[in-house]
Amino acid sequence: MFTRKRTIFAATVLLAMTAAAAIAETPNLGKPIDEAAIAAWDISILPDGTGLPKGSGTPAQGAVIYAQQCVACHGDNGRGGAAAALVSDQKIAGINAGQKTIKNFWPYATTIFDFIRRAMPFTSPRSLSDDEVYALTAYILAENKLIGADEAMDAQSLPKVKMPNRDNFIIRFPDRI
Ligand code: HEC
Repeated sequence: MFTRKRTIFAATVLLAMTAAAAIAETPNLGKPIDEAAIAAWDISILPDGTGLPKGSGTPAQGAVIYAQQCVACHGDNGRGGAAAALVSDQKIAGINAGQKTIKNFWPYATTIFDFIRRAMPFTSPRSLSDDEVYALTAYILAENKLIGADEAMDAQSLPKVKMPNRDNFIIRFPDRI
């Protein structure tokens, strides 16, 4: 008797679980997403440049866009205003000393492209074309004297720019990378 009751109980639980699983498999919500729609969101650039799009831009082209879309917050020639300076020659003297800027505190030039494309201008992110982002990246790098004034940035040249502090970061948990 006891055994039979237990069998019925087990069967009921199994039935309930199967029903739940069936519901979970077909929620009938949403619709399949296609590759093009995924690509529009998949914009991360890795330090080595993986993910950089086609296109290019020069510091001179970037200077024009900067004057139109960035100067109001980041100040004349990127020297700082309401928002952070994008150009500086200050070295970091200690963990809390000195002003942290792209030049002294960003290990990879490719991150500049990634950040500008996804987040700037602050009030209308994702509004810049890839050529414009390359040009602005080139402008900021040239103002920081990390590339020549006539050097164009693209998917090949940008990953080759070595940021001054790149090798001075200590990876706390190297085994987790
Ligand atoms: C309305 C003000 C505003 C405008 C216009 C603007 N920015 Fe910014 N920018 C900010 C703010 C605020 C931050 C800090 C954002 C954060 O930390 O999340 C920032 C951060 C940045 C950074 C990272 C700086 C750092 O050291 O962390 C870059 C690079 C940058 N902006 C580039 C640009 C470029 C290029 C343009 C023009 C296309 C632009 N910004 C236009 C307000 C602005």
